[in-house]
Amino acid sequence: MTTNVDVVVLAAGKGTRMRSRQPKVLHRLAGRPMLCHVLDTAATVRPRRTIVVTGHGAEAVEAVLQASQPTGGGGALSSVRQSPQRGTGHAVQQAAPLLAGDGSVLVLNGDVPLIAPATVAALADACGAARLVLLTTVPDDATGYGRIVRGADGAVRGIVEHKDATEAERGIREIYTGIMAAPGDRLAGWLSRLSCDNAQGEYYLTDIVALAVADGVEVVAVETRDPVEVAGVNSPAQLAELERALQRRRAEALLEQGVRLADPARLDVRGTLECGSDVDIDVGCVFSGTVRLGDDVRIGAYCVIANARIADGTVIHPFTHIDGEAAGVEVGAEARIGPFARLRPGARLGAEVHIGNFVEVKNSTLAQGAKANHLAYLGDADVGERVNYGAGSITANYDGARKHRTVIGADVHVGSNCVLVAPLDIGTGATIAGGSTITTDVPAGGLSVSRGRQRDIAGWKRPAKTGNAGA
Ligand code: UD1
Ligand code: MG
Repeated sequence: MTTNVDVVVLAAGKGTRMRSRQPKVLHRLAGRPMLCHVLDTAATVRPRRTIVVTGHGAEAVEAVLQASQPTGGGGALSSVRQSPQRGTGHAVQQAAPLLAGDGSVLVLNGDVPLIAPATVAALADACGAARLVLLTTVPDDATGYGRIVRGADGAVRGIVEHKDATEAERGIREIYTGIMAAPGDRLAGWLSRLSCDNAQGEYYLTDIVALAVADGVEVVAVETRDPVEVAGVNSPAQLAELERALQRRRAEALLEQGVRLADPARLDVRGTLECGSDVDIDVGCVFSGTVRLGDDVRIGAYCVIANARIADGTVIHPFTHIDGEAAGVEVGAEARIGPFARLRPGARLGAEVHIGNFVEVKNSTLAQGAKANHLAYLGDADVGERVNYGAGSITANYDGARKHRTVIGADVHVGSNCVLVAPLDIGTGATIAGGSTITTDVPAGGLSVSRGRQRDIAGWKRPAKTGNAGA
């Protein structure tokens, strides 16, 4: 096991083919910038330091790095700018002054986001601060890649870039993936000996291989057979392909665990989704942030759920939108939510709560058995057990400057189309007549009506239409 590892992440390139104003490495895969996936994986080898080489869109990339501090296991995270970009060797040269000059230096690519932690660990181990280790693969089509040139004895002699390769070399099927681990005490020396005398006029990092061979340093090729982990992203199409590959893997892991997915190809997990036993998820659902589903939870088709905990036996009907953001959403056991419900930050629903279509709940607690089944708003409210909250009723929680709370006692019945003007306290067991606008506290147990009294006018004649009406 290697002791000291430093990581360099190459992320200065422009990514012209993305046709975007955003730096390539900030494009999102499974809801997170590609670069963050690479940093997470780098962190698994517990490096002493991680240095990101930035260039195009450096400010934006640095801002993301700033926000992702501390990386938890990723060691000190810093960045260095490369301007202009004169090749991958030149990029690592910029990071060299920040390296310790010992241990193993792992070079990763910011646009190769799905490199596996086990592979990175294997490279660091094989390097052991003494060997130059290249991650290689044999793709279906090697066009464009650096080829691994081996001697008659099979030992790696060097890497030749596609543009510099002879016809014979272009026939080599083993390619360099762009990922390597190098001995820290040798790297700076090799980098200083690079030249840009090649087809692209760049300083190629890959040229250090021949220098290592010349210096008698052992060069090891570690081959991966997984095209996904070494896939680079150069275009929106490649990004979309990698997204599907990643989502497929996440879906397979859930199926493996016993989660029933109606269609593994129609699921998107953009954060962490933890599931209990006997969970069913219908098609088209998107989960992001941290979502925890208890045992026997059923999620209907086309739900979007973020930052929420949903307890055992609860059913979320189709087209429900739940986003807890920072405050989170909690749904108790055996609840029924949706279809077309919206739960916002700070919604805390107890067991057996029912929230129906076009009901919005924000920063409110609903105790066991409370129900709001149709077309309603509950904001900044505390709702007691078994409350029935009528169709079309709302809490008027905002006076234009401040938010106020509405407290609704247990067993209250709020009729349809009521406006509850907060701050307000509605006593236990009270009934609010439909169509009421309630502006003062309501005593327990009675009936409160606050609307115009009905008049019935006999023999009323409706206005009659005339021939040229509307002229
Ligand atoms: C590189 C390798 C090639 C390998 C291929 C795998 C070299 C010379 N060639 O080629 O052998 O098969 O990757 O995908 O290394 N970058 C910088 N600064 C620069 C240039 C590049 O930071 O000046 C970054 C890019 O943002 C990218 C990475 O380095 O993340 C690789 O650069 P790229 O231009 O894609 O290299 P390739 O020509 O594809
Ligand atoms: Mg490339």
